[in-house]
Parts: sequence; structure tokens; C-alpha cells
Amino acid sequence: MSATQIERRGPVAVISLVNPPVNGLGSAVRSGLEAAFNELLSDDAVTGIVIAGAGRMFSAGADIREFGKAPPPDVPNLPELIDWLEESSKPVVAAIHGVAAGGGLELALGCHYRIAAPKTRLGLPEVTLGILPGAGGTQRLPRVAGVEAALELIVSGRLVSEREALKLGIVDEIAHGDPVEAAVAKARALADAGTPPRRSSARDEGLAAARSNPGLFDEFRKGMAKRARGMNAPYACVRCIEAAVRLPFAEGRHFEREEFRRLVDATEAKAMRHAFFAEREVAKIPDVPDDTPTRPVETAGVIGCGTMGGGIAMVFANAGIPVTVVENDSAALEAGLAKIRANYQATVDKGRLAQDVMDRRMALITGATEFEAVAGVDFVVEAVFEEMPIKKQVFGILDRVCRPDAILATNTSTLDVDEIAGATGRPESVIGTHFFSPANVMRLLEVVRGANSSAGTIATTMGLSKTLGKVGVLVGVCDGFVGNRMLHQYLREAAFLVEEGALPQDVDRVIYEFGFPMGPFAMSDLAGNDVGWRIRRAKMADHPSNQRYSGTISDRLCERGRFGQKTGAGWYRYEQGRTPVPDPEVEALIAETSRELGIERRTISDQEILERCLYPLVNEGAKILEEGIALRAGDVDVVWIHGYGFPRHRGGPMFWADTVGLGTIAAAMRRFRDEHGEWMAPALLLEKLASENRGFKDL
Ligand code: CAA
Ligand code: NAI
Repeated sequence: MSATQIERRGPVAVISLVNPPVNGLGSAVRSGLEAAFNELLSDDAVTGIVIAGAGRMFSAGADIREFGKAPPPDVPNLPELIDWLEESSKPVVAAIHGVAAGGGLELALGCHYRIAAPKTRLGLPEVTLGILPGAGGTQRLPRVAGVEAALELIVSGRLVSEREALKLGIVDEIAHGDPVEAAVAKARALADAGTPPRRSSARDEGLAAARSNPGLFDEFRKGMAKRARGMNAPYACVRCIEAAVRLPFAEGRHFEREEFRRLVDATEAKAMRHAFFAEREVAKIPDVPDDTPTRPVETAGVIGCGTMGGGIAMVFANAGIPVTVVENDSAALEAGLAKIRANYQATVDKGRLAQDVMDRRMALITGATEFEAVAGVDFVVEAVFEEMPIKKQVFGILDRVCRPDAILATNTSTLDVDEIAGATGRPESVIGTHFFSPANVMRLLEVVRGANSSAGTIATTMGLSKTLGKVGVLVGVCDGFVGNRMLHQYLREAAFLVEEGALPQDVDRVIYEFGFPMGPFAMSDLAGNDVGWRIRRAKMADHPSNQRYSGTISDRLCERGRFGQKTGAGWYRYEQGRTPVPDPEVEALIAETSRELGIERRTISDQEILERCLYPLVNEGAKILEEGIALRAGDVDVVWIHGYGFPRHRGGPMFWADTVGLGTIAAAMRRFRDEHGEWMAPALLLEKLASENRGFKDL
């Protein structure tokens, strides 16, 4: 079947893009468009043209899979096709439904009139792929929607609803019936009226405000500096929009093309493409085929309404799934529900949630103090205290009261899911759902597969994660699963660096500049240093006496009540809200601890900080892959991008490691092992790949 189809409706021809699932504008579609334009533009019987998408959407833009590959000869590029279309003297109308993203919206902007169906999302998300709208989007959007709106949309990559698009002038009309029919009628009316085509490229009125405000771009760059640090694409987007204001359309388009070419093969774009595909690949599990029967999750239960349980209940309610929360007693239940209400209220107060939406969500949450209340639900998440005897007791009860086909999930972060499953007579229906805090905000969900979790249980839970708006990544049972197990390596080395000579603010600066939202010490202060302190004390007996202990300074901070932001002091002081201020008292404590430990403090370079923090993290990722705890290197990357803020433009730790070179990392790990100890020994898989001159991407 051809990638475009033509249907004649009287004098109007409808060209449909037919390239499932998203009508990507790959070479077959572009050839199809070329043939269609050749046929229709020269056919006098055709007075107007409509462009539409077959299937789910108009078009998600360029076919990302073709990036980095030379197009077949004689296939026109998208910018040329769009220019050609726009030049047509016959009216061309876009009938948009579902999604018009990237090149898809650029194609629509080349049309003379745009009609969108309800529930359509439109935007230019190229920046999220490390590139820019390279088919005229940076030139046409500012002309159509104004420079300020174009800057915001193109640099954020945000998709807008058809209603917002109408307000911004990106679409001209919302269709209430069939958008194609409405577009055909419009094309016909425009042709009959003999109205000259309204070309986006000629609509200079959108540029006027910016021409009289030349400081606009510098101002915008200042505002985006924090978010865009370390990246090229957002700045290139701004330069192109600036060019739209400065240069005639054709020159601006040329400028955009040059900038696009520079970005598309750079590491930043490769990293972001990798992240895009890795996020989609996580859903594919080799031994759980796509057609595995799943059970519908229409009702849910959450056991424990503390920090995590409350957030998880919100996650279900936000997805429209009625949820029953069970607490120990009515006081704990009331406190938990009040916290949920307060959380929603804070969002309403900030204007980010409508009151009636909050009310509807609260109405989906029911409290109970008896387990029988969850007897009929489809899916239960347990989030009680992190103690094995309590978890086992809870699962014993759930097994007794819940319907036989219900799935029982645990939110444990450190305990053995198999041991928990052993407390039931249905280990095949038990699984881990490791949400990240705050559960209603963080997108990552580690789905922990037990030894006996059935394919149906896994498929249902992975499907549910999507329904809940989470990125579910399947992991195996081990201490810390994927994310926290790697985090442990990173935090430990950060602590050692401080004992050896760096200050918390040095480490945090290097990590922040690398692209994380914050460094390890600011993060510990945010999460609460007491959390790790309690875990260390509980595990102290297990700590091998011949192994260096990384908690000395943190323990001392906690002994002084410096738990972090919540107590106004931790690794930093917090005088005004959440801004960390380096504290001489902490520096004195650090110096004293180094002395007591017999460590002569030395100057530590930024490069060493980066390597010591990140290489052991990558090394642990290699062990995780070796053991099969994660299915793919890309899955590890997704965990780190969504759970820990690893900069997306670096592709995640495993992708980044490939860009550094595994030989370099393995050599550094050997050196670290010799200098510091066996815990830094390179993973076998790292050594193997390095010796074969391969990367994690080749696995
Ligand atoms: N190219 C190639 N494949 C694409 C694609 C694209 N532009 N967009 C989506 N896909 C693939 C996905 O990888 C996925 O494949 P698998 O089923 O094999 O995993 C499939 O299409 C379905 O995608 P989703 O699971 O993401 O579907 P969704 O319904 O959840 O989301 C969407 C739909 C919002 C369109 C989302 O797919 C999306 O955001 N796509 C990318 C949009 C984008 O960034 N476009 C810009 C492209 S660059 C460009 O256009 C440059 C230019 O200037 C010319
Ligand atoms: P929490 O202490 O805030 O909440 C636990 C709640 O469970 C309390 O409200 C308690 O009253 C209730 N509870 C205890 N026993 C119960 C029982 N038998 N029946 C009903 N309710 C009971 O703890 P938090 O932080 O919410 O942790 C819960 C689980 O989530 C733990 O397994 C923890 O390891 C895990 N987790 C915690 C994260 C965090 O950042 N706090 C992150 C990811 C997982």
C-alpha cells in the first residue's frame, strides 16, 4: 500500500498520509507527497487540496528512525515539499486530528488554512530530540503565532491542545464533526471565492512586536539558561527564531537548515533519540509477548497511607481509578487522607488544578481500617513500614481476603519480593511496584519481577504503569533494584571525595554542571539525611570491618540534628527556603573528620569528582546487566533519567559511558581499585566490552 492516498471529493482532492502507527514523514511518505503534488497541482479539475492523516493522527513528524541515515536518492526533503505546497495557487487546507507534531505541524503550517478536531495535540517537540524544527517551523510559527509564543513553544517542545492552538492562531478553526469534511468544504469555499492563498511565510505581522523589542532574545536566553545548561539545541532554536525576525523568509529557512544539519548528527541528538526509543522499548519484554492476556484494573487498593501510600493513592485517582486505602487505625487514616487533601489543595492554590477536578479525584479515594474493604479490588499496592515481618503479615491477610485473581504488589524499596510473595498462596500474582517519592510526581516505576510472577501479572502491571502515566521499567530482585543499587555507588564515592579533600559544594557543582538537577549533597538534604542514617544504623552490624565506611560525616551531621532542608541545616544551611548555603561549621566538621580518619586532605579536580561519582555508577550498571537484573542498557538509562534526573541530553549513564569509551572507564576503575580498594573493581562485563572495543549499545 502506498504511503499516501488521494481521494477526490468533487473538485477537492484529499491527500491522506498512510504510514502507521504515527504517519512519520519518512522517505516513502515524502515520495508519495511529491507524486501527489505533481498530479494534483497540474490537474485543472482540482481546485483545492486537503491534507489529512489516516488512522490515529495527522502526523508525528519526521521518521526519527531515518535520522543519521542518508535518504534514498531522488526523495525530496520535507522543507522543499512544504515550500512547494505553500506556493500552490490552489487553496490547501490541513485537516488535523490526534497529533500534529514536529514535521507534522510544519507540514500543516505550510498549508493555507488549518482545521483541528477536538482532542488534538500540536507542537514542535524537536528540541526534546536535541534538534530543531528543520522544515520551516522556526520561520513559520513566529509569523503565525508571534515571536514570544514561538520561543516558548519551540524551546520547551510542549504540545498544546487544539483550543490553545486556536487562541495562538496556530489553527484557524476547530471542527465539530469530521475534520476532513470541514476541510473539504473550506477548500471549496476558498477556491470558489477566489481568495488568494494565505501563506504563513508571508505573514510578517507576527514579527512586528519582536522587531520593536530587540532585547527580547537576550532576555529569553537568560530565562532559559538554567534549564538549557549544557545543551545546544535550545540555543539553536532561539537563534533560528531570531533569524526569522532578522532575515527574509528564504534566508531564514536556509539558516534554519544549516543549524539543523549541525545538530542532527551530534551526540546530544543521538543521546536524546536513544532516550526516546529506550522509553518505548522498556515496554517490550522478550518472554512476555504483546498478546499476553492482562486483567483489567478498574479498582485498586493501597495498604498504608503514609508518605508513599498517600502518593500512590493519588496516582490511581489521577488516572480515574477508584482506590481504597487501608490504614492501621482511624487516626492514621485521617492523617493520611488529610495529607492527600492538602497535597491536592496546594496544587489548586497554585492554579495548576481546577477545584472541581480535585473534588472528583478526592471522591475516588475511600478510606478504611479493615482489609475486607479491598476484598473486591483488582490491584493492591502495599506501602506499609519497611519491615519484613509486617510485610509478610499484610500479604498473608491480603491473600486471604482479596479475590483470587487480584494482583498483589509491594512498594518495598529494599526487601526481597520473593520472600514477601512466599507469605501468600499465589506467588504468581505477586510483584513489586517500586514508586519513587513523591509518587504522584515522579514518573519512574520499577516493576520488580519475582521468581514466580506470572507473565499475566507482569503484563498487567506494565500496562497499568502506562495507564497511571508512569514509565514502568521491569527489573529483577536484588538489593536496591536498579536505581538505588547504582545510587549507592554514587553517594558512597561522593562521601569519600569529601573525606579526601573536596567540599560538598564542589561535588554538587560538578554534578549540577554535568546536567543533574542537583548534586548528591543537596539531594540528600532534600530527601532527609536521617533516612540514610537510620538505614546505616540498622545495617551497621553487616558492614565488613575491613571496608571503608562512607557514612562518618553524614552520621555526625545527623547527630547534630542536621537532617537537611526540613531542619534548616544539613550538608548546607537553609536560610531562605530551599537555597543551599555552604556552611563553615560543616567545613570544620569535615576537616576534623578527615584528620581523625588519618586522611591528608588534597586538592581534587573537577574531572576526578566526575569520574569518581559516575564511573562506579556505570560499573554497577554493568553488573546489573551481567546479572540480568535489567533487560537492556537502555532500561537502566530510563531508570536514571526518570528516577534520578540524569541529564536526558546525555542519554542516561550507560549511553553516556559509551560516549566516554568503555576502555577509558574500565582503565579508570582498575586505577580506582588499586588506589582505594576492591569495591571499585571493574565489572566483568565492562572489562569484556572494553577489551572487545564494544559499547553497551552493542549488547
Ligand atoms: N518517528 C519514528 N517513529 C515514531 C515517531 C517518529 N516521529 N513517533 C513515534 N514513533 C513510534 C514509536 O517509537 C512507537 O514505536 P513502537 O510501537 O515500535 O515502540 C510508535 O511510533 C508509537 O509511539 P508512542 O508509543 O509514542 O505513541 P503515543 O500514542 O504514546 O504517542 C506521539 C504519540 C505523541 C506522537 C509520540 O509518539 C511522540 O511524541 N512522537 C515523537 C514526536 C516528535 O518528536 N516529532 C518530531 C520528530 S523530528 C522532526 O519532525 C524534525 C523536523 O523538523 C522535520
Ligand atoms: P511511612 O512510614 O510514611 O508510611 C507507612 C504507613 O503504613 C504508615 O502510615 C503506617 O501507619 C501504615 N501501616 C503500617 N503497618 C500497617 C498495616 N499493617 N496496615 C495498614 N497500614 C499500616 O512509610 P513510607 O515512606 O510511605 O514507606 C512505605 C513503603 O514504601 C516502604 O516499604 C518503603 O520502603 C517504601 N518506599 C519508600 C520511599 C520513600 O521515599 N519514603 C520510596 C520508595 C519506596
